[in-house]
Amino acid sequence: MCGIVGYTGKALALTPVLEGLHRLEYRGYDSAGIALTLGAGEKLWIEKRAGKLGNLEEILGNSIPQSHSGIGHTRWATHGGPTDSNAHPHLDNEGKLAVIHNGIIENYVELRADLEKRGHTFKSETDTESVAHLLSDARKAHNGDLAAAMREVCAELRGSFTLLAIHSDEPGRIVGARRNSPLVVGVGDGENFLASDVSAFISHTKRALELGQDEIADITASNIIITDLAGKVLPHNEYEISWDASAAERGGFEHFMLKEIFEQPKAISDTLLGRVSGLDESVTKGINLEGIDKVVIIACGTAFHAGLVGKYAIEKWANISVDVEMASEYRYREPSVDNKTLLIPISQSGETMDTLMAMRYAKERGARVFAVCNTNGSTIPRESDAVLYTHAGPEIAVASTKAFETQLIAMYLIGLHLGRVRGTIDAKLAKEIEAELAELPAKVEQILETVEPLRALTREFKDATSMLFLGRHVGFPTALEGALKLKELAYMHAEGFAGGELKHGPIALIEKGTPVVAILPAENSLLAEKMASNIQEVKARGAVVIAIADSPFAAADHLIRIPKTHEFLQPVLAVVPLQVISYEMAVARGNDVDQPRNLAKSVTVE
Ligand code: G6P
Repeated sequence: MCGIVGYTGKALALTPVLEGLHRLEYRGYDSAGIALTLGAGEKLWIEKRAGKLGNLEEILGNSIPQSHSGIGHTRWATHGGPTDSNAHPHLDNEGKLAVIHNGIIENYVELRADLEKRGHTFKSETDTESVAHLLSDARKAHNGDLAAAMREVCAELRGSFTLLAIHSDEPGRIVGARRNSPLVVGVGDGENFLASDVSAFISHTKRALELGQDEIADITASNIIITDLAGKVLPHNEYEISWDASAAERGGFEHFMLKEIFEQPKAISDTLLGRVSGLDESVTKGINLEGIDKVVIIACGTAFHAGLVGKYAIEKWANISVDVEMASEYRYREPSVDNKTLLIPISQSGETMDTLMAMRYAKERGARVFAVCNTNGSTIPRESDAVLYTHAGPEIAVASTKAFETQLIAMYLIGLHLGRVRGTIDAKLAKEIEAELAELPAKVEQILETVEPLRALTREFKDATSMLFLGRHVGFPTALEGALKLKELAYMHAEGFAGGELKHGPIALIEKGTPVVAILPAENSLLAEKMASNIQEVKARGAVVIAIADSPFAAADHLIRIPKTHEFLQPVLAVVPLQVISYEMAVARGNDVDQPRNLAKSVTVE
């Protein structure tokens, strides 16, 4: 959701700014724009267009302005549709100050009314434009100091924001601010960057600075000053980015999503590395697990489905009750939570606003927070007591694949850890699970070697209007994830059901030819026969059954074999064919695989 880049330094700024915007495309956007400072006193250079970056690049042609500093933005529309005039940057009335923004300014209606009374005229419907006008006035009041103006304005704003601003009289200076929305500083050699995330500048530098809540970054090519809103200078908290630039490139694959599906064995083994036989101190030292009486998992979208699988494993192995809550619903029903609650937020980006707000609600009431996250230095881990980082690497495709797999692994690792700490898991069983975990990368690899027939089969269902997914036990959240992936990518009706629930209503949806993907429980498990009956129920009503199973299954119209594993670990394997189905369906239907319509990778508004 909204990508933000700022560059100041030796290069001509347009190139790194555009490159950064391309690298942030995955966040999801529907318009784009750039503003650059020219010589002191000269007007700002600005271009913005609705639609993809290609539209903006078309009008730029080959001309590169003689500017060494500027800001760029990809906008995911919230206030006002995706039009040229609503695209960022937004200017003050003199056209000297430009602002870009990610997030929502909640008090923009009052601010705008007040500014209009004072004679400011507006050109867009956005909440952001008010900030440009406010900054312009505040800068004048502060004798032309943009950073002082930013501090004053941020104190007036309500809501969540990342803001970057430039002024034509101060070429080379960029001032950024953040509250509940991501912003990192990239530290280069004779050049510095500000961006929504490190992928924007990863090909230029691997040094980054974390910015905390309500902090202001004031950068030039050679200097970085970080302050709080009162103007107090804060120390630099620098870290090294472990991803390399190639990790954020397609590397020969047609789409990022396909590349990321094929990276899953590595993502799983990286996440398991050194942890299979227990989480060490470096992960758990911040959190005391003694005396907890319940676990609450909060997450959104795909991460929520990982949480649902986690519930099965943690309840069984750690003998403790686990609630899995949609983060967006959680705090509004004022749930009971106290210092005996272990809260596990799961988030790939670490910036999802719904998850962050739910987590703060629980934290304020004393919950102990053990986060699962893929992004170092992001807000959710910064505000947690302990973090289990998944090592999926950068996930660029909007639809999550490898991050989901590693979130599942994190759930199992936490389940085993809690089981050991609480003395509830049998040592022999723990050993068996550990051995099975270690084999997962090779088993996923095995599935990936045989996906071509599944891709061909998927194309046969290209014109289906609906597809249903059935599962039981951990196969149920797997079915939910399969349906979500298909909705996101194929834009078709898809729903996941618990096999046993079907006869209580959803079976009415089945008609002749309805494709039903059934995730079969592990062979010989308690539920295998029950699920077989559920499949007969849909077949009897005309469904075409695509079964995902670890053993032969005669009742299937099409059988997708996956390797055997421990029954709780099966989602790691079963989800792979589901990802391939949704990927292939998107390709077959001519959809944008990596940036599906209306979606954003990192949803930083509530
Ligand atoms: C958005 C994305 C989903 C993702 C969810 C949670 O809705 O489109 O793919 O699962 O956010 O994201 P997180 O970064 O918190 O895991």
